[in-house]
Amino acid sequence: MRGIVFVGDGKAVVTDDLEVRAPKPHEVVVRMVNAGVCHSDLSVLDGTIAFPTPCAMGHEGAGVIEEVGSAVKSVVIGDHVVISTLANCGRCSACARGIPTRCRSSIGNMSRPFTYLGDPCFNFAASSCFSERTVIDAIQAVKIDSSVPFTSACLIGCGVITGMGAVLNRAKVAPGETAAVFGVGGVGLNAIQALRLSGAARIIAVDTLASKESLAKQFGATDFINAAEVDSASAAIRDLLPGGSGMYNPGGVDWVFECTGVPKVLHDAIDALEWGGTAVAVGVPAATAMLEKPIFTSFVYIDKGVIGCRYGTARPHHDFPKIADWYLQGKVMLDELVSAVYPHSEFDTVLADMHDGKLARGVLAF
Ligand SMILES: NC(=O)c1ccc[n+]([C@@H]2O[C@H](COP(=O)([O-])OP(=O)(O)OC[C@H]3O[C@@H](n4cnc5c(N)ncnc54)[C@H](O)[C@@H]3O)[C@@H](O)[C@H]2O)c1
Ligand SMILES: [Zn+2]
Ligand SMILES: [Zn+2]
Repeated sequence: MRGIVFVGDGKAVVTDDLEVRAPKPHEVVVRMVNAGVCHSDLSVLDGTIAFPTPCAMGHEGAGVIEEVGSAVKSVVIGDHVVISTLANCGRCSACARGIPTRCRSSIGNMSRPFTYLGDPCFNFAASSCFSERTVIDAIQAVKIDSSVPFTSACLIGCGVITGMGAVLNRAKVAPGETAAVFGVGGVGLNAIQALRLSGAARIIAVDTLASKESLAKQFGATDFINAAEVDSASAAIRDLLPGGSGMYNPGGVDWVFECTGVPKVLHDAIDALEWGGTAVAVGVPAATAMLEKPIFTSFVYIDKGVIGCRYGTARPHHDFPKIADWYLQGKVMLDELVSAVYPHSEFDTVLADMHDGKLARGVLAF
């Protein structure tokens, strides 16, 4: 069957020589229809996210249930599903508290359900959406309203939930609070639209590409800062929201969402926080990247903090259908995220267009 396989040394191959095994009793086979290309896929290719090879790529997809294991009751053949990357156990303390992103078995659970050229091949993020078919745990198949087009639905599975969930689930931004979003990509745009839904008073988008300003404003940004044109984006943010005089850099925003994965951006973003503010680290840098800040003046006396956020602190079976409903009600923009749909054979073109900053999201068709 068709698929895109990471073979190491920065290389992905588009192939017809990928096969996937039959489902176990608790698993399903999904016939993939569309899949979005997330920056994390680029990070696998460039080594920022280290991953063994060969590996069937992709983790943001939607499709149709084609086969169900003997114990599966949650979906039936023909259901339209968005794939969740969380193969959480459903039984541990984190799962019981409704925080499946903290389920120990939802992280690092690599397996090799594929073969590539006849040899065992890893899945990626327990999902592998860049293939004609994939096999996943039934808990990862989230049924959504079949009237949502697959080209838009697929994005819910990573970019949308990661950005929206960081604001709604992790930060729980309150009406009237202020925020800055660093990185106006597939993730950042969804942080911006969730801030709009939250009633944030000021939503400042920051990117190094001038072309991102109109997109950011379409999704709800009130201001745009071109980080390539200023010495310090955080100083530019404090100029927009001055906090009076005093020690410890007063002024700035209540929240920053770091959605680039560039370590120095998180470092700078913390300086854009008003006293009491929190930086949410969403972007994924290399595992060796460090953050070094003066503890006393950056955090202690001014109640500032930094928190991480995995996968929008998602509860997929609650959040995905809710986002689909909001889309159908016209409250959330999904179609506008789809800059272009490419046949899967044009994967290299998506990568080039992403690199050139042409895309909110590029979507592959299988
Ligand atoms: N925490 C999670 O669970 C999770 C999930 C998905 C993606 N991610 C990560 O989120 C990050 C964003 O992903 P994406 O798919 O939106 O990426 P993207 O490539 O679509 O967008 C990134 C944006 O950041 C901008 N940018 C780059 N350098 C910048 C700088 N120095 N200052 C300001 N803007 C800059 C780019 O121009 C681009 O618009 C990646 O690191 C990705 O791996 C994290
Ligand atoms: Zn669990
Ligand atoms: Zn992703």
